[in-house]
Amino acid sequence: MNVLVIGRGGREHAICKAMAKAPSVTQVFCAPGNAGIAACAERVNIDENDQESLVQFAKTNQVELTVVGPEQPLAEGIVDRFLAEGLFIFGPSKEASRIEGSKSYAKELMQRYNVPTAAYETFQEAASAKSYLHTKGVPIVIKADGLAAGKGVVVAMTMEEAEKAIDDMLVDEQFGSSSRQIVIEEFLVGEEFSFMALVHEDIIIPLELAQDHKRAFDGDKGPNTGGMGAYSPVSHLPEGIAEISMDTVLKPVVQAMVKEGRPFTGVLYAGLILTQTGPKVIEFNARFGDPETQVVLPRLKTDLASLLLKLLKREKTELEWDENTIAGVVLAAEGYPGAYTKKILLNQFKKEEELLFHAGTEMDGDDLYSAGGRVLLAASSGENLEQARNRVYSYLNKQQSEKLFYRKDIGHHAMKKE
Ligand code: AMP
Ligand code: GLY
Repeated sequence: MNVLVIGRGGREHAICKAMAKAPSVTQVFCAPGNAGIAACAERVNIDENDQESLVQFAKTNQVELTVVGPEQPLAEGIVDRFLAEGLFIFGPSKEASRIEGSKSYAKELMQRYNVPTAAYETFQEAASAKSYLHTKGVPIVIKADGLAAGKGVVVAMTMEEAEKAIDDMLVDEQFGSSSRQIVIEEFLVGEEFSFMALVHEDIIIPLELAQDHKRAFDGDKGPNTGGMGAYSPVSHLPEGIAEISMDTVLKPVVQAMVKEGRPFTGVLYAGLILTQTGPKVIEFNARFGDPETQVVLPRLKTDLASLLLKLLKREKTELEWDENTIAGVVLAAEGYPGAYTKKILLNQFKKEEELLFHAGTEMDGDDLYSAGGRVLLAASSGENLEQARNRVYSYLNKQQSEKLFYRKDIGHHAMKKE
């Protein structure tokens, strides 16, 4: 079959690589893709938000399955548009994607269905937000209600930070309409992990767990980012944690969405934190995680395209996993997640590697350049996390670029416990 992948980041590179090696796939298209994706898919020069052109492309190129990477086109209803044309597409409807697009919607849903999450309130006025803040004290967490590319969350350790976050979001509209409403929630303590599942209405296929590293710098310091590195599986978590999370979070939420008349199809990503009282939800995403996908999908031995199509047709599926651990480290442009250096020369990364994922790259003539804040993700596989991370860091030591930075401690939580 012909497959179309929508997006241009590291996650989409991982999806394209998985599609390219799937026996059921003849041709992979990626719109618009990036320089690295060109090695495993045919790039299509259509913006990920140009629904009309994407539908036309899918029709004229006999695309049997479309997979949507990023959140924006989902929030704008690309899935509804494809379905109206009778095209198979893997992703949630506009309504269902609100589980990611509106934190207050996700919180209300969880509250209604007793899904464990941090206590919270929502606000549109800075004054009432601050008076709530004063009754709660710090540490506390302030979140922009809408989409903010992983940057709309401030974990405030002091009152000043918390008040500044409230003003930035509600008064200065730091994230535009995404921060006209905010959620203020309880600060939770525990080990975080990412649980992605392939979902179609009431059917849930859990994927293996991963752990992301959200902060920009070593030791989990610095601002939140889209994610600076990940590994999978997460073997230091207690036995049975995936099953518990399925029973207390994924199943009730998936059933709730059916009940509420917004059945979810696509990747349901639960960002979870293992507290003293069990796993609680930090956030939901309505799509594959980035960078988790780059360390989870290469471990999946099953044909991804036929798996997704079978799920959409409600046919029986079975998954097979590689037992090895994959550790992936993001290379970001200096300055990221703030203003960052642009157009960094990257010719040392031109060679295609199985576990090298391009996140923001473009060719200019024969030269490879960065084209984004998160630029690449280098990953390695090993029999355990220690071996995988030793391998990836020894590769990175040989590839240094002055204008890129990366965390030197991906996997440090697990290493402490091994
Ligand atoms: P999010 O974008 O909602 O995943 O938040 C980004 C990061 O902020 C999370 O991965 C956590 O590290 C942190 N965070 C968010 N919410 C909370 C919370 N309620 N308690 C503690 N940390 C949080
Ligand atoms: N890695 C977190 C995300 O994809 O939002």
